[in-house]
Amino acid sequence: MFDRWAPGYDNSALQPTFSRAHRAVLDSVNRLGIPPRRILDLGCGTGRLLAEAARTFPEADLLGVDPSAGMLSIAAGRTPTRCRLVQAGAEHLPFPDAAFDLVTATYSLRHWHSPEVALHQIARVLTPQGLFVFVDVFPEHRRRARAWPYRFGIDGPLPAVLAQTLRSARLRPTEVTTISGCGAVTDMTVAIAVNGSTRAHRA
Ligand SMILES: C[S@@+](CC[C@H](N)C(=O)[O-])C[C@H]1O[C@@H](n2cnc3c(N)ncnc32)[C@H](O)[C@@H]1O
Repeated sequence: MFDRWAPGYDNSALQPTFSRAHRAVLDSVNRLGIPPRRILDLGCGTGRLLAEAARTFPEADLLGVDPSAGMLSIAAGRTPTRCRLVQAGAEHLPFPDAAFDLVTATYSLRHWHSPEVALHQIARVLTPQGLFVFVDVFPEHRRRARAWPYRFGIDGPLPAVLAQTLRSARLRPTEVTTISGCGAVTDMTVAIAVNGSTRAHRA
C-alpha cells in the first residue's frame, strides 16, 4: 500500500498535520535539554522528520527504517548523506541492543502489524533511559472500535492496551499531551516514554 502511496505522499492533504507532528516530536526532545546522539525513526516514510532532525540535532547519527522501498527511495533524496536508511519493519529491527538514545514514530504505530513485538524491539534497541517519542491519532478508537489497540478501551489519553503494552515492554510513559492537527485531523497525541530497562549499556 505504501509503495503505491509514496510518489504522491508529499503532496497529500495530510502533510500539514504530519509536519506539525514532526515539529512536536523535536520540540518535546529539545525541551528535555539533552541532545540525542543516535536517533532511529521508525516508519520514516519519505524522510521528512529525519531531514528536520538533521537540522535540529546536527551532531546526531540518524537512521530511518521503513518496510516500503518506495518511501525509502524518496527519503534517500531528501535526507543528508549521514542519514542511513534501512528497509525493515518495526517488528524486526536489525540493530544491536542499546544502539539508540531516541526512537521516534509519527503516524506509523497504527500500521504496525504486531505492536506488541515492535514495542519490545524498541525497548531492546534503546539505551537504558533512552526515549521513545511517538505521535498518533488515538481518539479514533471511537470509529475503529474493533481494531488494535482501540478495542480494549482507553487508559487516560492512551488506548488502555497500548499503555499496558508499553509498560510490559518497560517503556514508561512520562508525558502524554494532545495537540491540534489540521483539517480533518482535529487533534493528535504526542507521547514520551522512557526506557526503564535496567539492561547494561552496550560497551
Ligand atoms: C502515514 S506514513 C507516516 C510516515 C512518516 N512517519 C511521516 O510522519 O510522514 C506510515 C509509514 O509507516 C510505515 N510502516 C508500515 N508498516 C510498518 C511497520 N510494520 N514497521 C514500520 N513502519 C511501517 C509505512 O511504510 C509508512 O511509510
